[in-house]
Amino acid sequence: MKQYENISLKAYNTFGIDVQARRLLLLEPGDEVPPLAAPYLVLGAGSDVVFTRDYEGTVVVLAHQCRVERGQDDTVTAWGGMTMDDLVQWTLDHDLYGMENLSAIPGTVGASVVQNVGAYGVEAKDLVVAVHAYDLRDRAYVDFSAGQCCFAYRTSLFKQQPGRYLVLGVTYRLSSTFTPVLTYRALESLPHGTAQQLREAIAALRWQKLPRPEEHGSAGSFFKNPVVDEATYRRIRDAYPDMPDAHPEPQNHYKLSAGWLIDRAGWKGRVQGGAGVWPHNALVLYNAGGCTGDEVVALAQTIQQDVLSKFGVALVPEAIIV
Ligand code: EPU
Repeated sequence: MKQYENISLKAYNTFGIDVQARRLLLLEPGDEVPPLAAPYLVLGAGSDVVFTRDYEGTVVVLAHQCRVERGQDDTVTAWGGMTMDDLVQWTLDHDLYGMENLSAIPGTVGASVVQNVGAYGVEAKDLVVAVHAYDLRDRAYVDFSAGQCCFAYRTSLFKQQPGRYLVLGVTYRLSSTFTPVLTYRALESLPHGTAQQLREAIAALRWQKLPRPEEHGSAGSFFKNPVVDEATYRRIRDAYPDMPDAHPEPQNHYKLSAGWLIDRAGWKGRVQGGAGVWPHNALVLYNAGGCTGDEVVALAQTIQQDVLSKFGVALVPEAIIV
């Protein structure tokens, strides 16, 4: 375990926002979690957070180490601080399949269950069998079965109770046979002879739409795709016949593409202050040069108001504002 005082968080958030933390605690596999005085904040790879001010408390980070063990029945258990994409490659190197569609998603194993990350027809919840956490409130190690995690679109029990749980490890069930999941339309024409080919094609597809982290900071998709009722869906579809297909959801609801709404509202490529809307994907806000968290939040709010007035749809950020 390592501790730092008054340290910049610039390297600990993918937007690259330069705020300070009073204290940073870096936990390694096997460390006992020490008692923490409030306030504290658990950070994964910082790929879904926007800091708007210095953090006057303790930021807890799990060391980004590659630590994974194979269990029985094609299960693997990975350290919460491991980079998710490294785990995807590790599983393929060990002839275990199921994670390839999650290739090139930024963030850590722990964060991927907090957010229930998903891409191209696969969500973390489809593969998770257990989450091994530390309850910072009750000061106890707890294991959750997948059913106890309250997984839903980009959320979980761990996101609903922010700051309570530190996700130390995740057990997944994979498969020793490769069955490509190609339900997502954009995947139909991708090479998928082997899982490694599919992984590389998916990663390339993602990188066409996302800024390179070493060039521009971002938090991936900034907003969730909004779920609307049938009347709202029909009203927009009738007014905009070019709207991409909406995804049917329970109770006659439809999931629309936030990226398309923001694009259609005219925001793609626009820059306001130090924050911008990525020219190749309107769902991604990025650091256009030394931006502050307040500039990101201001841009996000202007977009939310504009989409609400043009389409009558409220966008909700996927990213967490601190
Ligand atoms: N679109 C536009 N203009 C844009 C962006 C998108 O017209 O600027 C259109 C696209 O042409 C497409 C539709 O909107 O018809 C949907 O776009 P895309 O297929 O890129 O997926 P998405 O809905 O924008 C979601 C996830 C991504 C995930 C992809 C692929 C959310 C919030 N985002 O994006 O997840 O990688 O599907 O499965 O659910 C993330 O959560 O950080 C993330 C990157």
